[in-house]
Amino acid sequence: MSSASQAKSRRNFLKTTAVASTAAGVPYFFSSPKTLGQETQSKNDRFSVGVIGAGGMATGNMNAAKDWVDIVAIADVDSERADRMNEKFSGGKAQVFEDYRKVLERDDIDVIHVATPDHWHTKPLVEAMLAGKDVYCEKPLTLTVDEGKLIRRVQKETGRIVQVGTQQRSTFPLFVTAMALVDQGRLGKINKVTAAIGGAPTSPEIPIAEVPKNLNWDRWLGPAPKTDYRWLRQEAGEGQRRAVTNTNCHYEFRWWYEYSGGKLTDWGAHHVDIAMWALQLNGQTSGPNSIGGMAKHPVDFEDGNPVQNDRYNTATEFLLTAQFPGGTVLDIRHDTDNGCMIEGDKGRIFVNRGKLVGAPVEALKDDPLPEDAIQKVYKGLPMEFNERKAHWASFFHCVKSRQEPISDVHSHMKMLNVCHLAGITARLGRSIQWDDKTEQIVGDDQANAMLARPYRSGYEIEGV
Ligand SMILES: NC(=O)c1ccc[n+]([C@@H]2O[C@H](COP(=O)([O-])OP(=O)(O)OC[C@H]3O[C@@H](n4cnc5c(N)ncnc54)[C@H](O)[C@@H]3O)[C@@H](O)[C@H]2O)c1
Repeated sequence: MSSASQAKSRRNFLKTTAVASTAAGVPYFFSSPKTLGQETQSKNDRFSVGVIGAGGMATGNMNAAKDWVDIVAIADVDSERADRMNEKFSGGKAQVFEDYRKVLERDDIDVIHVATPDHWHTKPLVEAMLAGKDVYCEKPLTLTVDEGKLIRRVQKETGRIVQVGTQQRSTFPLFVTAMALVDQGRLGKINKVTAAIGGAPTSPEIPIAEVPKNLNWDRWLGPAPKTDYRWLRQEAGEGQRRAVTNTNCHYEFRWWYEYSGGKLTDWGAHHVDIAMWALQLNGQTSGPNSIGGMAKHPVDFEDGNPVQNDRYNTATEFLLTAQFPGGTVLDIRHDTDNGCMIEGDKGRIFVNRGKLVGAPVEALKDDPLPEDAIQKVYKGLPMEFNERKAHWASFFHCVKSRQEPISDVHSHMKMLNVCHLAGITARLGRSIQWDDKTEQIVGDDQANAMLARPYRSGYEIEGV
């Protein structure tokens, strides 16, 4: 990129930042932390990035990151998607691969972005760390508790910088302010947190279909069990706004336990993360003792696995409760307003991507947060007030400074354990007891076996 166009892109960035700060409606009670403005302004170098999985989220993410990156390599098992990203972000000049391992082989790549479906996160993430790359990996990092143990170990051993794509920790000032309220004791001792994440859809029977020529279906399945490709398009009928595509592939993988944890990890990774962050700031450092409750599935289950394989199978409705030492309770539910309710013995707040409300928030008019309150919960890292770019800006700061990112793998795994245990409870239809020290389910061999998953032959994680 020429220096003139670099300067132009920086000017545009600053302009966008200023507008977005106002548009984001940074609340009146938001104290003023150290920002990334100066740092970004003085930055001369750009990061060479390799993208693994060029779908919907990677496109959004690269739009957010494009001021800092040159995308030099793209891997996707769907060649149409890789080519589209190449045209959009690299003018067709990036190297395009079907096999992501070719991206990891390039020595000139500093940073890897993993935005594959959930069942394809752990393997490329671990292999990227072992190849000496820093990684921004989409949430949820794993399908199982044991994959989380492996990621934590490899991250510790390699010292790579890994930012998880739980952008609520950066992108929405409302969440960080909510955490500062908790941290400053404005809610008192937290007794209950509720992560309201909405239900999941059902589908009709989805027939087996011919695999599109541009898609390597075997490689899309990767570590997951071999199965047929399914696809169905339903044209919009009366009262429906648009046509609906059902498949067990792009985007819709979320509604199949073979590739995801359903809503419990898709949105659980966002709001259970906020709930667990609040508990941790409030001094609750352990995981739960037990999880139980109700969940409804759109198909029958046997031994924790769906019996039918021709339609979505993840939980559509649920109210699952995790009990923590000392009596604190975390509810994960489908049926109330999307967001996080945090209840303490001095007051309660509700926070989501659009609002932060409650008596402790009102009280800020007369008793604002101390100057350093926001910065403290944000680990002292500089912040960017731009809804789309903040999490990426923070990641690049950490890549340069080698500080632990705000969405680090260790806190992510702690909270994802809760989501995964909720999933096991839902699938087995019974409560489970959890030993947080050994990370084992107590007295239930069948449930314990679900802490891991078999990797299909030919798709095992390399180098561990
Ligand atoms: N942070 C957020 O708010 C947020 C929002 C949406 C999605 N996500 C996450 O982003 C991820 C991707 O979701 P999406 O909606 O973009 O899905 P998607 O299906 O649109 O994109 C995934 C892409 O990965 C490709 N892929 C599959 N296996 C691959 C492999 N082995 N190597 C390379 N490419 C491969 C697919 O062909 C597809 O193009 C998911 O994990 C999802 O949870 C996060």
